[in-house]
Amino acid sequence: MHKDLKKILIDEKSIINRCLELGQQITDDYKHDVEPPIFIALLKGSVPFLAELVKYVNLDIELDFMDVSSYAGGTESTRDIRILKDLDRSIKGKNIIIVEDIVDTGRTLLAVTKILENKGASGIKVVSLLDKPVRREVTVEVDYVGFEIPNEFVVGFGLDYAEKYRNLPYVGVLKDELY
Ligand code: IMP
Repeated sequence: MHKDLKKILIDEKSIINRCLELGQQITDDYKHDVEPPIFIALLKGSVPFLAELVKYVNLDIELDFMDVSSYAGGTESTRDIRILKDLDRSIKGKNIIIVEDIVDTGRTLLAVTKILENKGASGIKVVSLLDKPVRREVTVEVDYVGFEIPNEFVVGFGLDYAEKYRNLPYVGVLKDELY
């Protein structure tokens, strides 16, 4: 275990097994659709999860990426997000699966969903490695959840603290004195 962690919450094997289950479930849900979905991953945290998950999706999917950040000028209730990297292609009339690392307050997901709706996506679903439901401030639907976790600050498998720890192969809880 990394020295900055106080415990491992979800080990590597459990994450891989859960990705396999989610991949099979997504395959089942979309296998009768004429057009396979486009996976839109939110940079950077969702990259390790995306890479593991798509191995088990047995459909001719496409991948695209978006990078967004909270807009500092907004108030809590109207918080808006800034697009740092937009999609490479049109998604008009396409089925989308948004890939997230963690849904916390839900505000990022709500804002991204609105952006994709405005771009004309026909169906939007969400897959997230982690979900912290007790922290939710807005209503969002997460269709596929890897793991529900308690209200603790976690790092690893894509999740960072000050851009560190994204490369850990497991999800762990950072020692309190480090943040
Ligand atoms: P939301 O808009 O509050 O749902 O925030 C989602 C984003 O906050 C995630 O994509 C993460 O980047 C970040 N985040 C929330 N909780 C954690 C955590 O426990 N560890 C690391 N990043 C987190």
